[in-house]
Amino acid sequence: MDLVIATRNNGKLREIQAILKGARIRVLSLDDFPGCPEVIEDGKTFRENALKKARAVAEYTGKTALADDSGLSVDALDGAPGVYSARFSGPGADDLKNNRKLLRMMKDVPDERRGAEFVCVMALAGPPGSEIKEKTVKGVVRGRITREMRGPRGFGYDPLFYYSPKKATFAEMGPIDKNRVSHRARALAKVKDIINEM
Ligand code: IMP
Repeated sequence: MDLVIATRNNGKLREIQAILKGARIRVLSLDDFPGCPEVIEDGKTFRENALKKARAVAEYTGKTALADDSGLSVDALDGAPGVYSARFSGPGADDLKNNRKLLRMMKDVPDERRGAEFVCVMALAGPPGSEIKEKTVKGVVRGRITREMRGPRGFGYDPLFYYSPKKATFAEMGPIDKNRVSHRARALAKVKDIINEM
């Protein structure tokens, strides 16, 4: 079976390919379909965005598609930045600006209320008319928001995400350790089970 991963992000693609290794599928990416239109992520939930992307790519390519949406959800901020994680600090947002904004908003939040989770929802959709049922799965990893950025690795909010089993932020842990426990890895493990059943 062919599976199109709905991303142009090579880092994500490699991570997904590595985890799906062993499943009986040929993994393709949007680089194999250069004309595939960009999908606007305007959903209110990770699930809505992931499904919207998977459906659009399945429709365009005529193949089964896998799409994801992910972000950080902070308890003390009622789940923000959530689906707005990438653009949290407004127009021109980047990782540093987003992290600084989060630190400002969390300035007066006491240690015991600094819980947060990274969430990743993955959606599988078949091409129109196929028998493949739409499926979504969710992967979550819990941690705490630190009071300063720590660690040079990773991306996004990794320097602020303290993972207590390793006594380190995701940016201090490095990719091998992070990918063992991350929200994306946990969602992908579930995707792998579904694909093996197909
Ligand atoms: P997307 O799923 O590529 O749309 O990611 C949305 C945003 O969530 C990213 O730009 C990051 O800010 C944040 N994010 C998602 N996954 C991670 C992660 O593993 N580490 C740090 N930040 C993440």
